[in-house]
Amino acid sequence: MDWDTLIAEAGRARERAYAPYSGYRVGSALQTEDGSVFSGCNVENRSFGATVCAERVAIGSAVATGAERISAVVVITESRPPASPCGLCLQVLTEFGNPDLPILLVNTDGERLERRLADLHPHPFEMPVQGLGRFSQ
Ligand code: THU
Repeated sequence: MDWDTLIAEAGRARERAYAPYSGYRVGSALQTEDGSVFSGCNVENRSFGATVCAERVAIGSAVATGAERISAVVVITESRPPASPCGLCLQVLTEFGNPDLPILLVNTDGERLERRLADLHPHPFEMPVQGLGRFSQ
């Protein structure tokens, strides 16, 4: 995995974060199975619940371009230690990535923690209906 490329993309996206309410900037970049890279930043709103996390912006961008499954994710924040994605984003990642999907948590000091999706979200919500949607397993 070319983590350095994804970290650079996530860092660039973080600089574009729209976070006037929290002041907390998040950048994310992901790679899909065909090698394409997509990025996202958090986009806040004065109606706080309308805020979207960086990870879900990146995922939406990938899906909107017809992307295949996700094979790697980077999240960059200023947190020490580097922050994990929120529960909503982890649940959304389970839709497009396998349980062993590598997620690299990075901070602006350069600390790196590599995790697997199933480490961070071991019991995702599952529906008992298979075969729906282009990403179903
Ligand atoms: N945020 C993300 O972008 N990703 C996460 O996984 C958790 C939180 C953003 C949302 C909000 O703009 C700010 O961080 C503070 O919660």
